[in-house]
Amino acid sequence: MLKVSGEVFAGEAGYGIDGDVVGSIAQTIADARARFDVSIAVVVGGGNIWRGLSGAGAGMDRAQADYMGMLATVINGLALQEMLERLNVPTRVQTAIEMKEIAEPYIRRRAMRHLEKDRVVIFAGGTGNPFFTTDTAAALRANEIDAHVLLKGTHSGVDGIYTADPKVDASATKLDEISYLDVLSKNLRAMDATATTLCMDNELPIVLFDLMGAENVNAILAGEAVGTLVS
Ligand code: GTP
Repeated sequence: MLKVSGEVFAGEAGYGIDGDVVGSIAQTIADARARFDVSIAVVVGGGNIWRGLSGAGAGMDRAQADYMGMLATVINGLALQEMLERLNVPTRVQTAIEMKEIAEPYIRRRAMRHLEKDRVVIFAGGTGNPFFTTDTAAALRANEIDAHVLLKGTHSGVDGIYTADPKVDASATKLDEISYLDVLSKNLRAMDATATTLCMDNELPIVLFDLMGAENVNAILAGEAVGTLVS
């Protein structure tokens, strides 16, 4: 399971969808499929278009703001599908909130069948519920489809979990490995607590890594230590 945050899609502009960036993510997925016998599912965020938390911070009703965020993830999911299909990667998009004129509704067994047929499945619409992040959607769907690992792709030069914020504290060092409990107790914000707990309870390892490093996904699949492993 690959989690791609919406902010990644924005590229340099910081807002909207940068086709080159989405194309390079699609290429990363296509390369990994070509090199490894691996099934890939993707959960996309929506923060490049709308962040529910920011809306709530500005005084909006949190649930309303979160629903807007869920719609944003669908836009991103369709953009990624487009780019994957340009690379001849068979792709299905499923949405947690039914909008069947646009994409398939989320049906777990159908998603698993798509994966068996070597299709990339993009899960959009978050969990379909407000108050849950797309990280939590990734943890949930990953567990539902029996994923072996949750790869959380970051951007902006963040290549793992650090002992402190490296932008603030020059002495911060990157951790190669850390336990779920340490992530939670030290409030390291690698993933939100709900997502981390869901992975911990189901023993699903998380790798937090820089998605902008073109070879990183392949290196992780080859068993190399890239980013930070949470287990
Ligand atoms: P198999 O039956 O396993 O071969 O899967 P399939 O996805 O190719 O077949 P299906 O006939 O279910 O879907 C054909 C196309 O229609 C695929 O691109 C699906 O993603 C799409 N599709 C299926 N169901 C829906 C739906 O409810 N809404 C939308 N928008 N597209 C759908």
